[in-house]
Amino acid sequence: MAKLRVGVLASGGGTNLQSIIDTSKKGEIEAEVVVVISDKKDAFALERAKKSGIKTVFVDPKLYSSRELHENAIVKILEENKVGLVCLAGYMRLLTDHLIGKFENKIINIHPALLPSFPGTHGQADALNYGAKVAGCTVHFVELEMDAGPIIAQAAIPVLEGDTVESLSKRILEQEHKLYPKAIDLFAKGKLKIKGRRVKIND
Ligand code: GAR
Repeated sequence: MAKLRVGVLASGGGTNLQSIIDTSKKGEIEAEVVVVISDKKDAFALERAKKSGIKTVFVDPKLYSSRELHENAIVKILEENKVGLVCLAGYMRLLTDHLIGKFENKIINIHPALLPSFPGTHGQADALNYGAKVAGCTVHFVELEMDAGPIIAQAAIPVLEGDTVESLSKRILEQEHKLYPKAIDLFAKGKLKIKGRRVKIND
């Protein structure tokens, strides 16, 4: 069976991207990353992709007069590369319906908190500062509202006495690197069915 063609959108270091590339290369998931797109020219995610021989594109938001036009450029690249799933991996931009409408139920995101708790850009720090005893990460389908779509999978870890944002983030990230490829593989194998807010996994 042909592997699912994945397009990854990333703004930062790209460790989640790396975990997807690595598991794909080892044949652990039925998916391959065919293009990596970033809104940041110097995102290390782009270097990681290049190193693995994957096509990279920097789509400079400054060149477009609106978010929609910026997204149109991204959609064009995703379509040209025949992408069947879009993975947000540390992509720090809210999507509009331009992108979401073109890839309905085909965009997923990883968030470093147990949603619906602690959405936003500081999930780990927010959980720590709130005094949560359990933290973790969530893979979910993307909807217009930030960090709000149907949940595919979650992993939980305890918050330890003496944890800092750095130590907690590091342990959450270790979970992210396992959870995201698994969720992608389930999608690739057609095992995810969305029913309202719930995602049924037909394993
Ligand atoms: C990850 O922790 C990811 O969950 C988070 O950004 C980090 C990216 O790391 N995403 C969000 O906070 C989205 N709201 P990476 O570039 O090393 O994969």
